Amino acid sequence: MSQEKRSSFTGKIGFVLAAAGSAVGLGNIWRFPYLAAKYGGGIFLLVYILLAVTFGFALMIAEIAIGRKTGLSAIGAFKLLNKKFSFLGWLAAIIPAIILPYYSVIGGWVAKYLWSFISGGAFQTANDTYFGNFISQTGEPISWFILFIGITALIVLCGVEKGIEKVSKIMMPVLVVLSLFIAIYSVCLPGASEGVKYYLLPDFSRFSATTVLAALGQLFYSMSLAMGIMITYGSYMKKEVSLEASVTQIEIFDTGIAFLAGMMIIPAVFVFSGGTPEALGKGPSLMFVTLPKVFESMTGGTVVGALFFILVFFAALTSSISLMETVVSIVCDKCKVKRGVSCLIVFIFSVALGLLSTLGYGIWSEVKIIGLQFLDFFDFISNSVLMPVVAFFTSIFVGYVIKPKTIADEVEISGKFKRKALFEVVIKYLAPVCIILILVSSVLDAFGIFKI
Ligand code: TRP
Repeated sequence: MSQEKRSSFTGKIGFVLAAAGSAVGLGNIWRFPYLAAKYGGGIFLLVYILLAVTFGFALMIAEIAIGRKTGLSAIGAFKLLNKKFSFLGWLAAIIPAIILPYYSVIGGWVAKYLWSFISGGAFQTANDTYFGNFISQTGEPISWFILFIGITALIVLCGVEKGIEKVSKIMMPVLVVLSLFIAIYSVCLPGASEGVKYYLLPDFSRFSATTVLAALGQLFYSMSLAMGIMITYGSYMKKEVSLEASVTQIEIFDTGIAFLAGMMIIPAVFVFSGGTPEALGKGPSLMFVTLPKVFESMTGGTVVGALFFILVFFAALTSSISLMETVVSIVCDKCKVKRGVSCLIVFIFSVALGLLSTLGYGIWSEVKIIGLQFLDFFDFISNSVLMPVVAFFTSIFVGYVIKPKTIADEVEISGKFKRKALFEVVIKYLAPVCIILILVSSVLDAFGIFKI
């Protein structure tokens, strides 16, 4: 791994766009709005933004700096810096393997909706029961899931990353413009103001440890943190590009798209389904149930909807490609197999895990693990348990083993480190203490042992 000459991004824009391309995906458009709706709207948004500028900032700086300093990806990087911490690289590497299968299940749902919009069945999707009926079948969701992960595997196998990167540079700006347009339309719908208030004004009585944990999990997920991705990206980064400025831009980009997605969806929930806790707590199905209604009410909604789902499909595909690429390259390195074989292993493993997630909404809906369906369970384990654990150890590692100065020195190669004091406080004290408290309380909560 370390012997080969590392390719590097051409400059700052190249780096920021590539990292933002990895960050922006279903996490922003599908996951963020349903969590925000479920966990109290404004209070979730506020907690999320506060966490992004403190935890998110500190962790992303640390991960990218570790990558740039060592020139290695997670497993090698932790090992090089301190042998005792090589377990951390491994722990981080398991996470994308858990996310990829269920990510592709959702990707399959997006593909199905895209197809409905293109093939003239757009407005059936606006029917209340459409989504529930679709995911509870057996054959259809499985076919779409396998199609999605099959396309991902093919692209990873051919390694046409260059083409994908070029296309995403065009698609991403289009996605921003379209999101802005749909969000403005949503906000202007009659009756939307209640939803806008719910989304923007925090209600402090809804604050709890679970809100913070959900927001923290979402932050890691959305910014591709705590799973070694940003370490790998950092290892491709040139020394003269400003680390701090890049991190700020990636965060603004990622949070901006998530914010807009909430603006598209949450006011529309109030308009079409009322702001009942039931409608707001829909979870993973929220985007699929609410957005088609927005498109149905819009002149030219079929075209706008089709365009929208093409872009979401694309954002999901670029993310699933990098998720799979991460897993495939680890299997290649560690099992000493060829790329093709590794792709096949990862494909089979993901189909098996993904099948649990699809069937969990259909014939196996009775099967629950700690009260969760398979998809929600995988999501919970990766985002609410493993990622906080990795983030905790990373902050201990940086704060007390290699010391914040190592990171600060790396950042200062490319300019002044303006928020150095903030970085130190967060990584040494705030992050470890808060993550442990939140993690313990929420895991106990999930098992029903202790309620906050
Ligand atoms: N951040 C991506 C999103 O918001 C999902 C994701 C998580 C991801 N981890 C990743 C993408 C690693 C690529 C690589 O949807």
